[in-house]
Amino acid sequence: MKIAVIVGTRPELIKMAVLIKELKKRDLNHLFIHSGQHYDYFMDGMVMELFELPKPDHHLSVGSGSHSETTAKIMVKIEELILKEKIDLVVVHGDTNTTLATSLAACKTAAKIAHVEAGLRSYDRSMPEETNRVLVDHLSNYLFCPTEGAVENLSKEGINTGIHLVGQSIVDAVTYISQGITPVILEKHSLHSDSYLFVTCHRQENTDCNLRLNGIMEALLHLATHTPYKVVFALHPRTKKILIINNFLARLSNHQNVLVLDPPPNFQETIHLQQHAKIVLTDSGGLQEESCILGTPCITLRENTERPETVDCGANTLAGYDTKKIIQIVETTLNSPTKWKHPYGSAGISAKILDIMTGGST
Ligand code: UD1
Repeated sequence: MKIAVIVGTRPELIKMAVLIKELKKRDLNHLFIHSGQHYDYFMDGMVMELFELPKPDHHLSVGSGSHSETTAKIMVKIEELILKEKIDLVVVHGDTNTTLATSLAACKTAAKIAHVEAGLRSYDRSMPEETNRVLVDHLSNYLFCPTEGAVENLSKEGINTGIHLVGQSIVDAVTYISQGITPVILEKHSLHSDSYLFVTCHRQENTDCNLRLNGIMEALLHLATHTPYKVVFALHPRTKKILIINNFLARLSNHQNVLVLDPPPNFQETIHLQQHAKIVLTDSGGLQEESCILGTPCITLRENTERPETVDCGANTLAGYDTKKIIQIVETTLNSPTKWKHPYGSAGISAKILDIMTGGST
């Protein structure tokens, strides 16, 4: 059996890195394919270096474009590769346009599809990622779910076969990089444990809507001015382009109690920054999981989440984009307990997925 792992963005690389390494370690017949959806060094090359990943066997170099353009370009190139390389099984992750395009191309050939991080639902179709995850789950032969809740979501949609509850592969990634040298990012910026709020914001629903982005940015400026906590803001390239146009980047950078990290920190530094933050504020799905695993409270800058387990266990609160609401939830969170048991399983999830796909275990 020939297996191909296809990734395209920073979070896919991070959550599939240990699986890619394990495929190589077991010397299985496989290909590592990169769509090129993310291409900046700090979104892509930096992650590859951190996990000491091999060079992809194929790089499709699709770059940025409209959703349809990116998806269509990847589909055409992946179909060609599946046929040329005689790929039997594609392994995709999560909810990106790379995930959708690969799955669509695979189902139009004889290749089977394995979806890692199956069953997540925000039930918010205004997110491009929600459409991607629903469609990919309905096309997949193997559905690797991180939690019981994800299994239940699939069952509600009539998907009852091929499901395996394995845990969340981010646990493998966090475990892997935690064994490396401790990053010096805190010392570099004179930050101390519990003295700052760590912030990320990159979702299209927030960056491409003035009302939402302004609400979030005004909240950050208020918190930097009126609380003793420094605001440490890791800047995504999409957000940077927009914050330059609306002048928020200058206001944030010139504020003495705001630290803008541009380029954004690497994954290991991001984990370290989350671990030592007082609170994480984010619209990223990955950071909701990571902060929950690391024991740092999270405030999600969205109205919904496809990670409700983080809310249920007391690690996460949904705040949306309203300035007053964000500030009020920060105040509540500062006075709340920070003990919970995370729902994502223990390390060894990537190995479990490979065992199942290669018939080693069920
Ligand atoms: C994508 C995923 C999202 C994931 C996120 C992580 C989809 C639909 N969404 O969103 O699930 O959480 O990756 O970052 O696939 N850009 C650069 N350099 C890069 C990459 C992007 O400058 O290396 C800029 C470009 O202006 C691009 C924009 O960011 O148009 C958006 O990139 P895109 O990959 O479309 O979506 P993300 O918002 O990164």
